[in-house]
Amino acid sequence: MSAGSAELPRAARIAVLPPAVADQIAAGEVVERPASAVKELVENALDAGASTIEVALENGGRTSIRVSDDGCGMDRDELLLALERHATSKIRTAADLVGVRSFGFRGEALPAIASVSHLEISSSTGDGDGTTVRVAGGSVLDVSPTTRRTGTTVSVARLFYNVPARLKFLRSARSEWRSAADSLIATALCRRDVRLGVSHDGKNALSLPPASTMRVRVAGIWGGAFAERFVEADDVSGPMHVSGLVERPADVGTASRRVFLAVNGRPVRDAGIVRAAESAYRSTITPGVRPSLFLEIVLPADVVDVNVHPAKAEVRFRDRWSVERAVEHAVRRALGEPSSAAFVGGRSWSFAPTATPAPVDVEVLSARPAPADGLFSAGRAAGPDVAGSGLDAQPTAALRPDVPPLVQLRRTYLMFERGEGVVLIDQHSAHERILFEQFMNVLERGAAPSQRLLFPATLHLGPAEADAFESNRELLQRLGFDVEPFGGHSIIVSAVPMPHPRFDALRCLRDTLDALTGDRLPSAAARHERLAATVACKAAIKAGDQLSLGEMQALFVGLASTTLPAHDVHGRSTIVQITWDELERRFGRK
Ligand SMILES: Nc1ncnc2c1ncn2[C@@H]1O[C@H](COP(=O)(O)OP(=O)(O)OP(=O)(O)O)[C@@H](O)[C@H]1O
Ligand SMILES: [Mg+2]
Repeated sequence: MSAGSAELPRAARIAVLPPAVADQIAAGEVVERPASAVKELVENALDAGASTIEVALENGGRTSIRVSDDGCGMDRDELLLALERHATSKIRTAADLVGVRSFGFRGEALPAIASVSHLEISSSTGDGDGTTVRVAGGSVLDVSPTTRRTGTTVSVARLFYNVPARLKFLRSARSEWRSAADSLIATALCRRDVRLGVSHDGKNALSLPPASTMRVRVAGIWGGAFAERFVEADDVSGPMHVSGLVERPADVGTASRRVFLAVNGRPVRDAGIVRAAESAYRSTITPGVRPSLFLEIVLPADVVDVNVHPAKAEVRFRDRWSVERAVEHAVRRALGEPSSAAFVGGRSWSFAPTATPAPVDVEVLSARPAPADGLFSAGRAAGPDVAGSGLDAQPTAALRPDVPPLVQLRRTYLMFERGEGVVLIDQHSAHERILFEQFMNVLERGAAPSQRLLFPATLHLGPAEADAFESNRELLQRLGFDVEPFGGHSIIVSAVPMPHPRFDALRCLRDTLDALTGDRLPSAAARHERLAATVACKAAIKAGDQLSLGEMQALFVGLASTTLPAHDVHGRSTIVQITWDELERRFGRK
């Protein structure tokens, strides 16, 4: 042995840790703070088939946590076994892990909690005889018979009393309570079939009866007004089912944001999925504000691994990309429902005629043939994609049974009566949405027809606009602007699109180039959206434009056939509804 290695610290000798120390270290993985103990105990109750669970915390769970259930219970032997590490009734082989339905599967939680607290469990498998076990720091103190109803009560006192390092890192009672409450809420949202009562420091904090839907559960937790902010999502993509509630764009940012995500019945965290859901809001809300979401994903068990996180807070997907796309699609679809429109009081409406209050099916609406005189109606032949439903100036639309009687207010809004209230459409925003979708279609799928100018026009641009022209020239061409450079910073325009008779094409082109100066957008999709939104905004009819009946009806039909009728392209509403309920309240009729 060399002189150098002789100076190695003596502690380098290896020794097996005493079981109690090993258990405490392992416990640290599972039980990080009171909230994790609460989560594990409640999940055990659910796995035991409980239909009612009562949770009582003292001092944020730092002093005590008690979870009682009416599940299957344990007899004396099972109870003692449950306290051993790796003792579980939930799986038998590693293969059982695939598609495991229970929350638990490791046999770790109870012994982990037991090793770092004073624990008392009493349990019974049939009304009457039961057993109570008391454990301190992992050692069983005593086992005694007890009389109780079927089910289990676990009481955890002085969590981390023997792990000073952990104890030091506990936060204030308030913040530990908040974190425990978050975990309880996640469970309550997941398992709406269960009755859940929660108290903190003797005060009732949550009292949730079984709920039939996510909305009812959300209302039970945060109140009815909060639950009304959401639109239902429900979409199947291949083997995946995405459902839940997504916040109405008009409401996003006006209340605390809450996000809940469950995968195959387990609450999980997943920033990627939340981002995918949020990206479905693009063009419906202002960038930067983030929606509340309650989403449940169900997918085949063998494409998701639930055993990748010590507290089971995360899962791993075999094909993350397709899960994210399915979520994005489901949210986008929900935002396409007219029910996602802004409203004042009460529930929302649908585009479907009042006489048939069937659920709205935007796909059916969009399959409806577009009016003959639509966007780009003149000029080169229109492909099937671009025969749009812009503004039809023909009053023939008066014959349409599917369009309600429309009134124009202040030359700005269209108003009509529908279902549960009065609906207002902002004519500019609505037209903008219609044109935006048509332009996107054109940019992504082909070229739009345009109208040749009798006298080509020359526009003199500033250097920045000339630059914007150069980088968007090909896309502008696709939109129907036939434009060539004409020396210096000038361009010559020989054909333009004709979305509606009042369209001032040259002004639109100039304004668009002005708006696009300085743009450096990363992706083609982003450039398309930016250009389509800019041209749509400039090309749309304005507030103050008087509309004929035919035009109003065409606007209504056109809006109904867009994918996101209730939202303009800048994150504002195109539609606002005032419910009869709300009006009656305001007039003191209710
Ligand atoms: N409230 C309860 N009612 C009935 N049985 C229970 C209850 N809590 C625990 N058990 C039994 O004790 C066993 C051990 O529980 P523990 O939480 O330690 O492990 P697990 O739930 O199987 O797995 P995990 O460590 O992943 O939670 C369970 O498998 C279950 O059989
Ligand atoms: Mg468990």
